[in-house]
Amino acid sequence: MSDLLQEAVSFIRTSYPELLKTEEDINGRIEQIKKEINETGRYEHTYEELVYGAKLAWRNSNRCIGRFFWESLRVIDKRMIQSEEEIVSVLFEHIEYATNNGNIRPVITIFKQKDHDQKVDIWNHQLIRYAGYETEHGVIGDSSSIEFTKQCMELGWGGKFGPFDILPLVVQVDGKTPSFHEIPESLVKEVQITHPELTWFKDLKIKWYAVPIISGMRLEIGGITYSAAPFNGWYMGTEIGARNLADEERYNMLPAIGERMGLDIKRDSSLWKDRALIELNEAVLHSYKNTESALLITIQQLNNSRNSKKKKPLMTGK
Ligand code: ARG
Repeated sequence: MSDLLQEAVSFIRTSYPELLKTEEDINGRIEQIKKEINETGRYEHTYEELVYGAKLAWRNSNRCIGRFFWESLRVIDKRMIQSEEEIVSVLFEHIEYATNNGNIRPVITIFKQKDHDQKVDIWNHQLIRYAGYETEHGVIGDSSSIEFTKQCMELGWGGKFGPFDILPLVVQVDGKTPSFHEIPESLVKEVQITHPELTWFKDLKIKWYAVPIISGMRLEIGGITYSAAPFNGWYMGTEIGARNLADEERYNMLPAIGERMGLDIKRDSSLWKDRALIELNEAVLHSYKNTESALLITIQQLNNSRNSKKKKPLMTGK
């Protein structure tokens, strides 16, 4: 049995019983897939398989705490789309649908499967992400974006050299030259970071975007690879407060915060980093909550959702 067929069979055997299909359905579908692979070297998922496969992929992502909500994932099938312009407008739609004015909805948009000479590539790590520039005076913006920002500029993107410039979308179809597309500002929800007590916090002029839409991962279902399948859930506060804004290699905001707090930032034993980190995390939670919309996932939400369901096994099969 070829690898592809083997993977396909294992996917059908896992998902079909969960979709309440009969043994007859399973065998029939496997025969069909066998024939398709023999004739064309590939097979196409039905819409139902695509939806369930995408949900399963989230359910099985054991590094993601949001996966408890795997069943609520909205799956948008855009396999029929060919042109770059259409892809870009569908990505804009994804951003808008996911953001939902702040009431975030988990969604995945799936473009055509990778085939010999055909594939869709989205070069962005996340659809919304800040640029990073290396300058004589150090890095401006997000240093994790330096390489990608350079590529955007080589393609002709201007770059504003600000700390929070939203990067354009870069889309490539079938290995042709990629192009860049600025995201309309009105689609991007951002949160200004303020602190409930420390009034000077707003003067740091820190912000972050609302929805993490991962676009740099491929989706694999039953041996088929979807090279472009951007998806999102919700942010957890610490991803922003304890990593993106705090890491020395990222926005490195702790020294500025520690200084304003009047801490001795020369001595590690003063625990200035720990104290500054707490205030930064508190500021992030406070600011995202202040928008009065559902922007962040919280441990409480997770627990509620787990308790409300009869304990379902999180993992079955592949
Ligand atoms: N940690 C990444 C970031 O801060 C995002 C990873 C995905 N996170 C998520 N909550 N879905 O941008």
